[in-house]
Amino acid sequence: MGPARAERAALPRPRVRPDLDGLPLFRGRAAEAGMIGLDCNESPFPPPAAISAAISAAGELNRYPDNASVDLTTRLAERYGVPSAGLTLGAGSVDLCVRLIQITCGPGDEVVIPWRSFEVYPAIARTAGAVVRKVPLTAEHAVDLPAMAAAVTDRSRLVFVCSPNNPTGAAVTRTDVERFLSEVPPDVLIVLDEAYAEFTTGDADPLDGFGLVRELLGQGWTNVVALRTFSKAYGLAGLRVGYCLSATPVAELLGRVAVPYAVATLAQRAALAALECEQEVRNRCGHLVRERERMRTALLDGGWNVPVSSANFLWLPLGSIAVPFAAHCRGQRILVKAFPGEGVRVTVGADAENDAFLAAARQFVPADTADTARRASFG
Ligand SMILES: Cc1ncc(COP(=O)(O)O)c(C=O)c1O
Repeated sequence: MGPARAERAALPRPRVRPDLDGLPLFRGRAAEAGMIGLDCNESPFPPPAAISAAISAAGELNRYPDNASVDLTTRLAERYGVPSAGLTLGAGSVDLCVRLIQITCGPGDEVVIPWRSFEVYPAIARTAGAVVRKVPLTAEHAVDLPAMAAAVTDRSRLVFVCSPNNPTGAAVTRTDVERFLSEVPPDVLIVLDEAYAEFTTGDADPLDGFGLVRELLGQGWTNVVALRTFSKAYGLAGLRVGYCLSATPVAELLGRVAVPYAVATLAQRAALAALECEQEVRNRCGHLVRERERMRTALLDGGWNVPVSSANFLWLPLGSIAVPFAAHCRGQRILVKAFPGEGVRVTVGADAENDAFLAAARQFVPADTADTARRASFG
């Protein structure tokens, strides 16, 4: 071994895909003690019943989980009035985003996405060798459905509609989505990503993609799916459970490309327990929606430009001062998510955390007066 290796001209190196060069790296949050985390759109409320259920399940850690998640799937099917065969569980809804691309796209196929939107979409599309077509948001920071429909070509295989859109918070209406569905060719898979659906209470003409897909399935449509997650409203981001409603053949394919045993027993049991506390979840979402509006009003009063949000976060289209503003917040021990040159996304947290953020925003002194003007007028 030793001499043979020494004789080699170069050190051994695997041949890897050159097309992955420059693939954007999802960094997520680095653990940092003592910070107020308003950067990941998490719930500030740990869910007590789900925690107890997860602790009770810990005695089974030596066993693989139920790969089909039968109990949770059955419960979700009852909850939404849909057949179990159309429900697929994943390790977070991001796992399902990945699998939806895997079952539709090969090298050179196109994925159409709104932009800016969930930052993971381009990376997972490119990982499959697919080409990403980014469609700019409207001036109101919303998904531009007519432009998305116009961007579909005969190479397009999948379209993500993110509503409410991460990071801008704008939601599309059911009426607009229905029009969009009639404009997209029937062989393109349309994914309604509703990670923040539970925060749209009070919206006029809300999408409710699960309800829409249920109706469409009844009419024989098989090219529209909806995604939801336990990570946001249910407060289970740390356990990774998401779910997809689709036609049965799509669900079967999603099952074939799944990583075995991806949804842990702790996660399945916690999600089941969380579903038993729906009223509590609704109350918490209602509270966060009220907090969102309190924060928005305070920011608007302070001269900030803050688009309407239907999610558990707000978008500040700060342009060139996004990074300095996030750095200022960090200096106050508050983490927000900066998108350099575009804006800052701030999650609605616990009341005191929101107060701390509003105080930090009030203290922010832009580097020059032009920035002050931009704060109010950008976007
Ligand atoms: C729009 C959107 N979709 C999907 C996800 C994935 O969530 P999870 O994998 O935790 O279910 C997120 C997470 O931030 C999101 O913002």
